[in-house]
Amino acid sequence: MPPAAEPLPATGARRVAVLGAGYVGLATAAGFAQAGHRVRVGEADPIRLAALLTGEVPLAEPGLAELVASGVAAGRLTFHGDNAAAAAGAEAVFVAVPTPEGEGGAVDLSFVLAALRSVAGVVRPPAPLVIKSSVPPGTAARLNAALREMGCAAPLVVNPEFLQEGRAVEDVLHPYRIVVGSDDAEAAALVVGLHVAFEAPVVVTGAAAAELAKYATNAYLAMRLTFVNAVAHLSEAVGADAGDVLEALALDPRVGPQYLRPGPGYGGSCFPKDVRALVAAAATHGHDLKLLRAVVETNEDQLDRVVAKVRDAAGGLEGKVVGLLGLAFKGGTADTRNSPAVALAVRLVAGGARLRAFDPAARVDLPGVEAVADAVAAAAGADVLLVATEWPEFAALDPAALAAVMRGRVVVDARNLLDREAVAAAGLEYRGLGR
Ligand code: UGA
Repeated sequence: MPPAAEPLPATGARRVAVLGAGYVGLATAAGFAQAGHRVRVGEADPIRLAALLTGEVPLAEPGLAELVASGVAAGRLTFHGDNAAAAAGAEAVFVAVPTPEGEGGAVDLSFVLAALRSVAGVVRPPAPLVIKSSVPPGTAARLNAALREMGCAAPLVVNPEFLQEGRAVEDVLHPYRIVVGSDDAEAAALVVGLHVAFEAPVVVTGAAAAELAKYATNAYLAMRLTFVNAVAHLSEAVGADAGDVLEALALDPRVGPQYLRPGPGYGGSCFPKDVRALVAAAATHGHDLKLLRAVVETNEDQLDRVVAKVRDAAGGLEGKVVGLLGLAFKGGTADTRNSPAVALAVRLVAGGARLRAFDPAARVDLPGVEAVADAVAAAAGADVLLVATEWPEFAALDPAALAAVMRGRVVVDARNLLDREAVAAAGLEYRGLGR
């Protein structure tokens, strides 16, 4: 059943504005509409706005199109090109615009500041301005000062988003927790009230703690994945099976089973950027976050390790053909921002290889990389086949069909995704991470 069909418990309906219709903004807006609120979305990009106005959802996110359609059909979700028009009369205005990486790893706040400026004249206390965009600790204090300079007296609330791409709807309708940070108790209470229908644990705190809660979560998960890759690497060195080691680790409830899959390094639009931003933010407070600096460096090394595996398997890269399975930064998304698969492709091409790449959803235009229509076409004539993204479709491939068209005999599985016995049974040599 699509998530849009799931009714949420009825709660006091409010007028809400959301600025920015990206993954976070659109999912948040549609979630609020599902919870019964009347939501007006401001979107600056005319192409995205036009799509939304014609009922199209320009993001490949399971269940999101249905959730948006249901909000629109109920008359509770509308889209506007003018932020001030979207925000006028709202009881809370959420800012969900991008916070890209700026200089030295610090976050570029220009979109957030522009969004605040666009509504500063129409948002009045007690309606809060709510920062959903990821902003590092200490930002709310800066934004508050900027708001006062803009002549806006609205209180500021930090309400970070924790949704994962590929499960945005689930995460918005059934969040693990809601974090609301503000130095204004009344504004915080209003924002908490907007979330009652989601029935999630709520952490009410100061603005800086809410900001840090977001970065600490992403940095912790990135660190954990880096550790997992280190365990896989060490497993190879000592002749252990990383799968067994990690299974034992996962069974300890203090560790738990999630985020324990070795890979080519964490990627995407969040982890890499957020870890670097936290290091940069800590530095401005005189703290050298050595641990996280090591995470950043080790995560880069992981790409080199995978490239070395491919080079070993092919007997050098110059003039070799590598079949690449996956371009997206993870399975289930078309997103290639900071994709380890793309970073691997770039390194392999720089080493002299030619690539034949297939991804079920993602497209990239890279010199030396030929996009092909399916996995077997990627394997055709390949000296080595490299699995770079954890698409479930790849796990279901018939290794015999791949073996029949490959020139070489080695499959490098940088996601430990394939059934290694089945690969071996097809006459191919399987090389995973720590397996
Ligand atoms: C991440 C967080 O998981 C969200 O909670 C957060 O809201 C979001 O960033 C954000 O800050 O906006 P997302 O970028 O969608 O979400 O990516 P994840 O699903 O967490 O995956 C991140 C990377 O870790 C991917 O490259 C993935 O392939 C890798 N990964 C994940 C592994 O290599 N192994 C695992 O076991 C899990």
